[in-house]
Amino acid sequence: MAIFVDSGNVKEIQKFMRMGILRGVTTNPTILLKDGVKGGEKEIRKRTLEIAEIINPYPLSVEVTTNEKDEMIEQAREFSSWADNIVVKITIHGPNGELHNLEVIHTLEERYNVRINVTAMMSAQQCFLAALAGATFVSLFGGRVNNMGYNCIDEIKKARKLIDEFKLKAKIIVGSTREVLNVVEWLNAGAHIVTAAPALLDGMIVHPYTKETVQQFLMDAEKAKEAVKKPALIKEIPVGYSSQRKDIVPTKA
Ligand code: E4P
Repeated sequence: MAIFVDSGNVKEIQKFMRMGILRGVTTNPTILLKDGVKGGEKEIRKRTLEIAEIINPYPLSVEVTTNEKDEMIEQAREFSSWADNIVVKITIHGPNGELHNLEVIHTLEERYNVRINVTAMMSAQQCFLAALAGATFVSLFGGRVNNMGYNCIDEIKKARKLIDEFKLKAKIIVGSTREVLNVVEWLNAGAHIVTAAPALLDGMIVHPYTKETVQQFLMDAEKAKEAVKKPALIKEIPVGYSSQRKDIVPTKA
């Protein structure tokens, strides 16, 4: 089991890498645009190389920007040549339900040895077919499934059972996190990996009661320092007597 971050923000990725909690990064065109990658393939390459180096040897998923069959193959081969830890994301089908994507995925994995993360999936049955086609990762969009009124936990369980029973190599990534509790909940349901938005990882760490507790520790540590600075305030105990049991025997002969 592992946590990836779903981000193209270099500073956020570096922050979580320094903490030692990340095992990979996922991006998509929407995330890259939000994180300031504008200007086509040249800019995608620049940001991809930067992130790939920071997280090496952990995997970085980068998505193709076309749904044309030959262009997808060409772009996926190009992206994967940029660094050893690059995984190429391809959607399970095209914008209008075009079916050639699985063929492309199978060709890239089997013929060109490109690692593929099949993405934008909303059901266990999609994940199962992507895994059968030879995908290295299958990405289920948990938050979007829940938004449609289904419980993504059921889909995670079904997908994991099939992948295990058929002994397929695919690892299930559940993304599209919406709430802090998604990460642990989805990992416990059977996801191999949850890819979380940076703000949710921050939210997993910080707890209001922990804050209060740490504040009290620090306040008391300050008070203790003050107490050492003013020894006159501490009442001296006569040598030879227990401070707890003044009434009885001396502690020393
Ligand atoms: C996962 O790989 C995707 O990039 C991502 O989680 C999609 O999330 P969204 O539903 O917030 O767009």
